[in-house]
Amino acid sequence: MGISLRRKISFIFFVFIVICSLLWLANDYRNNLLAKKIQIIDSQSTFLNTILEARRYEKNFFLYFELNDLKQAFHYLTLSEKILNKSIKILYNEPALAERLNRSYKKLIQYKSSIEKLLTSQKEFNFSKIDAQNENYPKFQDNIRNLGKQITDDIEKIVKQERFQANTMIKKGRIYLFIMAIVILTMSIVIAFFLFFSVNRPLKSIEHAIKKIVEGDYTNIDIKIKSKEFVSLVTSLNNMINELNKRSEQLIQSKKLASLGTLTSGVAHELNNPLNNISSSIQIVLEELADDNIDFKRELLTEAEKQVDRAKDTIKALLEFSRETTYKPVMVNFKALIDKTVRLIKGEVPTNVKLDINLSDDIQLFVDPQRIQQVLINLILNGVHAMEEKGGMLGIRLCTDTRKTEICFKVHDTGKGIPATHLSKIFDPFFTTKDVGKGSGLGLSVTHGIIEQHGGRIEVDSKVNEGTTFSVFLPTTQSDE
Ligand SMILES: Nc1ncnc2c1ncn2[C@@H]1O[C@H](COP(=O)(O)OP(=O)(O)OP(=O)(O)O)[C@@H](O)[C@H]1O
Ligand SMILES: [Mg+2]
Repeated sequence: MGISLRRKISFIFFVFIVICSLLWLANDYRNNLLAKKIQIIDSQSTFLNTILEARRYEKNFFLYFELNDLKQAFHYLTLSEKILNKSIKILYNEPALAERLNRSYKKLIQYKSSIEKLLTSQKEFNFSKIDAQNENYPKFQDNIRNLGKQITDDIEKIVKQERFQANTMIKKGRIYLFIMAIVILTMSIVIAFFLFFSVNRPLKSIEHAIKKIVEGDYTNIDIKIKSKEFVSLVTSLNNMINELNKRSEQLIQSKKLASLGTLTSGVAHELNNPLNNISSSIQIVLEELADDNIDFKRELLTEAEKQVDRAKDTIKALLEFSRETTYKPVMVNFKALIDKTVRLIKGEVPTNVKLDINLSDDIQLFVDPQRIQQVLINLILNGVHAMEEKGGMLGIRLCTDTRKTEICFKVHDTGKGIPATHLSKIFDPFFTTKDVGKGSGLGLSVTHGIIEQHGGRIEVDSKVNEGTTFSVFLPTTQSDE
């Protein structure tokens, strides 16, 4: 037995969830990196602005020798130091960048201490531009300028580089999202295919098989499915079909026995007539035994023999019908089958009902004769019962317009008809309008079952007070059952 479908589906969804989670984690990791890059760019840009501010004041100082400019430059440098320090701290997992910032930090400290020195001497000597000859006059302007420039150049480079990296990450992120969408789409398609082939298709085949059961085809379902659940479902359905088969056979059999009960009195009556004839013929022959009229006695005995044959035929028909058999279609002559059936039910037909059977001798059917006989008996008796009060005519004819692949015959009566409200129910088991003990309501239900077993169908057309026609269609091609 294969792996259970529940396990397969659970496994597939597990794999799907794992892959989606991994993709999501990878995406989240990239987003974090990107957020960090943006944070670095932000703080470096702030740092750059602050240091540029410090350099502006430092430049102003060398132009006008205002102490305040120097103080401002020092203030901005203190601020820059804090910003840079903070930036370095968050770069624990980017050692290369941290190293570069450290170098800039060292330069910044140098720069700051030069400004600090300048501040102290300015406070002390209060230089102006014309003091250039003073020995304490700050001679390291270029040095300071260079330091400031180096720091800004370095940080600008870093910002540029980080910006470039962030842009590349955004571009790659787009491609990554696209790949992720394709992976998820492909996986969804694969799952959809899997579900289609392993769930939908078997379910469709089972649905198809159940439809066949509803149509009366009780053959076992043959589905090549490997999953455990479907194997056990199909096994259960097949068990059910076998059980239904058994029950339907039992029903046909019990309805046949019931019909036999009805038929026996009629058949007994049918046998009584020939027996009476034979008996009177023999009596006459016995009385006239001594007489010479040999021709008359031969005639009587020949008639008696005919009556014996008639009785034998009736008994044979009854025996054949009552034998318990399973469904077995064979080639039969339709007219002969009707004659045999009529022989059985004749005793049940009251004198006010005329039988009108008009069939040619050459119609051959591939059917189970016993079962079709049962269909005929059910239909004829229903017609006869419908005409019980007023009498009428019961006809059996072939249909005029039928397809090549089927043969159709009609059983028509001029009885009371079936009200429209009953038409949809007459084939239901146990539906009867007859008094308790007179009808079981199984006749048409069994008839319907037998015709479906033959791959055929039955239709009804009825008008209240005018009569009813049942049309039975049977395929001419051999049934595969
Ligand atoms: N030819 C017909 N004319 C009028 N009503 C009919 C005819 N055939 C069937 N019916 C109606 O359909 C009902 C069901 O018929 P069905 O043969 O299944 O059961 P039944 O004749 O009542 O009982 P039984 O099981 O003894 O045949 C009948 O009770 C009757 O009302
Ligand atoms: Mg009936």
